[in-house]
Amino acid sequence: MKRFSVLVNCTLLLTLMVIALGAYTRLTDAGLGCPDWPGCYGKFHAPVLDHHIAAAQAQFPHLEVDPYKARNEMLHRYIAGLLGLAIAAIFFGSYYLKQYRLLATGLLLLVIFQAALGMWTVTLNLLPLIVLAHLLGGFALLCLLALLRAEIYWRQQQVIATATTSSNTQATEPALSAGLGFGYVVLLVLIAQITLGGWTSTNYAAAVCSQLPFCEAGWQERFSLSLVFHLPLGHETYEYGVLPYEARMSIHVLHRIGAICTLLVFGAFLIWSWRRARGVFMRRLVVAMAILLLVQVMLGLINIVMLVPLWNAVAHNLVAALLLMLLLVFLRQMQLRKIQLRQIVTNPTQVTAPVITQVTPGKTIIN
Ligand code: HEM
Repeated sequence: MKRFSVLVNCTLLLTLMVIALGAYTRLTDAGLGCPDWPGCYGKFHAPVLDHHIAAAQAQFPHLEVDPYKARNEMLHRYIAGLLGLAIAAIFFGSYYLKQYRLLATGLLLLVIFQAALGMWTVTLNLLPLIVLAHLLGGFALLCLLALLRAEIYWRQQQVIATATTSSNTQATEPALSAGLGFGYVVLLVLIAQITLGGWTSTNYAAAVCSQLPFCEAGWQERFSLSLVFHLPLGHETYEYGVLPYEARMSIHVLHRIGAICTLLVFGAFLIWSWRRARGVFMRRLVVAMAILLLVQVMLGLINIVMLVPLWNAVAHNLVAALLLMLLLVFLRQMQLRKIQLRQIVTNPTQVTAPVITQVTPGKTIIN
């Protein structure tokens, strides 16, 4: 079991790396660094040496071979391949242990679908809908892995709990359990905002507005909601974007409006949770989310003021993934505590799911 948790931990780190590398690949315009899939100019390595570049150029005379972009793209594919293997190992491990099979199966199916999306990203020449789905798929992988990690942790605590049974009804966070519905609304708002951010990036709309708070003067007259949801289709290639200025500007502005809504709704939820959470574990999660939310808004503002610096844009992507991951873990904790509270109320002698609460730092109480 210990080896299985180590495997899940390493896979979580690997997923973060793949997400960051994916963003780096997209933001360095290296998505088409290799025009074929799964190889690169017909080989399983990027053409970096002179004779490889010459051979690739001879094979694809209508394209300009860029070894820097090809290297970025292949690095992303290698690490993603490693992630695929790690998830396959989690899948087989879960069947061997006869635990977490549902989550592990979901992970395996998702990573296979991600590989297909990666292929379509190249073969459909960066079709924004596919690139966006690929980005969201990466976030979904991270979230499923985090839920698996949290599930393992809770079950480990369950073993300890059977040895040291205690009953502290405070630790079930009764005041928090009423906020699950609110939490789901925040989750929807965050997913919508992440989708809008991905739509901004995949349609090359990042640099169309350089003024704060929304865009250059007169944007209101040219803003169109229908243009935001208009799917660009039927083009030979989507590299550097195909949408007209009005559409890009509307997408960009909507992402900024979305940022204000996210800040307000998420912020309200965090304040609400902070006031009600009693245990250190949940309070720490609230603080972590609050910090990440503020950092995310600051990174967004730096994107505007400094015209999308590469590492800042990669960080903006990563922090969004971490925010989503933490919110999901928090909501799952709320759900578990609610279930346990109900069990305590209906049958105080039989409590099955343990919930971990550090009432004081360093002293963990399990009920
Ligand atoms: C409130 C929370 C926010 C979330 C969750 C969020 C999320 C995202 C995501 C997931 C992306 C796609 C990144 C990528 O494709 O690599 C993105 C892109 C972007 N966001 Fe945000 N964002 C937020 C706030 C903001 C704010 C406040 C601004 C500016 C005022 C901003 C400006 C941008 C810009 C310009 C891009 C496109 C950058 C690029 O092409 O890489 N964001 N956002």
